[in-house]
Amino acid sequence: MIMKAIIPAGGLGTRFLPATKSLPKEMLPIFDKPAIQYIVEEGIKSGIKNFVVVTGRNKSVIEDHFDIHPELEAFLRTKNKSELMDGISKLVTNSNFIYVRQREPLGLGHAVWSAKHVIGNEHVAVFLPDDIIMGKTPTMAQLIQIALQEKCNVVAVQEVPMDEVSRYGIIGVRKQFSPNLFQVKELVEKPLMSEAPSNLAIVGRYVLSPKIFAVLDQQHLGAGGEIQLTDAIQELLLSGEKVFAYKIQGERYDIGTPLGLLKANLDYALRHPRHAGVVLEYLKGLDKEFVVMQGKAEALNKPAKTLVL
Ligand code: UTP
Repeated sequence: MIMKAIIPAGGLGTRFLPATKSLPKEMLPIFDKPAIQYIVEEGIKSGIKNFVVVTGRNKSVIEDHFDIHPELEAFLRTKNKSELMDGISKLVTNSNFIYVRQREPLGLGHAVWSAKHVIGNEHVAVFLPDDIIMGKTPTMAQLIQIALQEKCNVVAVQEVPMDEVSRYGIIGVRKQFSPNLFQVKELVEKPLMSEAPSNLAIVGRYVLSPKIFAVLDQQHLGAGGEIQLTDAIQELLLSGEKVFAYKIQGERYDIGTPLGLLKANLDYALRHPRHAGVVLEYLKGLDKEFVVMQGKAEALNKPAKTLVL
């Protein structure tokens, strides 16, 4: 069993400024819940009970979210609206949250290393809270199953266009076992397109052996001047540990950018049993508007006498 997860949330979220100047990107909402709550829910569905959240400055609202709120709960009771808090209250009661402060955002590897003293000698799940994956089966449950079966480390991957590989950690494949399962030969952080071993990019789910902490003890700055988790996993591989990669099923959203969050919100709303119809109608209206606008734009480019608005 894998009972603990690390959720690194100590980054600065610069790609989403100014929204993230004082609001952690992990708290940006997808429809009616903050992004990080979807991550915790995926963890719970995958059998995890203990969440170690790595935080930094301006992140204390994450702690408030995963805590009881007696005044609000009492107020809702008087209004017969307790069901509004049902989901989050149950989650808070049934899970444990531990907070570790990353003093400086020195990179994802450093954030994971900051949780070392609360993990101990056991395999650990790592979730990046800005990678939201929507699908039927929780991705982490799949990773855990592979890790237990193969006694190995596992990273989640996704195919990306070759001209985007330099934005990701990329794996090289030693062996392919099925359409979605690979044994990893090497991992390279942000390679040049010409040097990438594949187009399989690591996305924000990992199951790692506790040896990762000993490797991170020795880790130096890598790509972008940050301590990279990918480099540490490559070291694990070189030390003789097995690393597998699982190609995720379902849709992944990088909610660390405005466009990624917008897409996540639209897709979530369109899958929502109660609200999908209204959202679809709204989008159809927008589509008509868009066509009209496009018509105008085309008309404006024509000579004046044929201009029809
Ligand atoms: P990102 O690189 O996506 O987050 O890291 P960032 O650095 O906050 O974002 P930008 O690039 O400036 O926009 C993935 C996850 O790792 C955490 C982030 O909070 C995010 O959830 N992280 C990153 C840390 O906890 N500490 C770090 O030093 C870096």
